[in-house]
Amino acid sequence: MKLLKLFKKMKTISDIVKQTQFSDDDIIRLLSVTDSQEAEILRQAAYDRTTKTVGNNVYYRGLIEFSNICTLDCRYCGIRKSNHNVPRYELDKDTIVAAALWAAENHYGSICLQSGERRDPKFIDFVTDILKTIHQKSVSPTLPNGLGITLSLGEQTFEVYKQWAEASGNPMGLRYLLRFETSNPELFDHLHCAPGREKGLERRYEALADLRKAGYQVGSGVMIGIPGQTLEDLCQDIRTFQKLDLDMIGMGPYITSEGGDMLGEGMMEKNALMRLALNMIATTRLVLPDINIAAATALHALEDNGREKGILHGCNVIMPNITPRVVRKNYQLYANKPFIEQEPSDTNLYLQQSIQKTGREVALNVLGSSKHWKNRTGL
Ligand code: 5AD
Repeated sequence: MKLLKLFKKMKTISDIVKQTQFSDDDIIRLLSVTDSQEAEILRQAAYDRTTKTVGNNVYYRGLIEFSNICTLDCRYCGIRKSNHNVPRYELDKDTIVAAALWAAENHYGSICLQSGERRDPKFIDFVTDILKTIHQKSVSPTLPNGLGITLSLGEQTFEVYKQWAEASGNPMGLRYLLRFETSNPELFDHLHCAPGREKGLERRYEALADLRKAGYQVGSGVMIGIPGQTLEDLCQDIRTFQKLDLDMIGMGPYITSEGGDMLGEGMMEKNALMRLALNMIATTRLVLPDINIAAATALHALEDNGREKGILHGCNVIMPNITPRVVRKNYQLYANKPFIEQEPSDTNLYLQQSIQKTGREVALNVLGSSKHWKNRTGL
């Protein structure tokens, strides 16, 4: 009899997804969903909360991976410094600007510039120069303030963040992505093989605080399914998203990389990993309803149309790869990276159609800023 009472009191997944506040137990329960009916309840709730809070649009960020030269040695990453099997490249200014203008002409409201991590003055000035030129050249009647620009260039000083912010010329469309990868400090050190390196995880959080002070819409995120990571760690990651008051989140499954230094530790089985990644996306959407969440390309490396699954579970941003094809194969952070062979134009129509199949619309010629950022700044 007592047991029956206890059973009656236990919350079901349907009960939990209706809430607006979540305990750690609730979050862990959502993250551990495997039953297909429960998974569908979670998915639908995350999808509906996305529609209700941030609308039906999916925003494009054209991703330009302009250099794979990297000074760091993150053990999970295929372009880490110690991988001598990958030819290194840096696109020249004209090529980068041409890719950005291609995005503008094809109605992408914004782009994302990503590269390996460098902090030398030559690199910093190179980026400054590119930002100024992209801004000047992308202002048009359709984009009166120019392209929105997201930078994904690692940990830099506050002064550098400021310098790039000024150069980008469009404070309303200024964003930075810097994942903290995991909120578990020991796991963070294990991934970056350097206990105490520049204060490790703490330094990463400081950089995120600097970005906010420098006026960026701040994005971060984690990898899901890292060897040794627990559901409690992922729950803590979501708590950290809340604490950092992030505007945007990008997260995807951890996939082993031939060029990385973690092959021996393996990775999760594909289907279980996909399930966990989608649970993490949907749960994050329920806990932080007004942020932008990007459907990571790594989802697509696990499964065809993986990003569309991300959209069905609460993502509202997608980052089509518009890096010139000649260098694309040399920017492989993990195995089975998709779209190595496609020209940007090839992916455009296909992607738009496959997004429409999720019930969402691609919003063209708009910045697509995070609603959370608008709410917190009043801009
Ligand atoms: N698997 C999944 N994601 C990876 N990244 C780097 N290497 C991998 C990998 N092996 C992600 C990191 C980084 C982002 C640019 O790419 O989270 O922050």
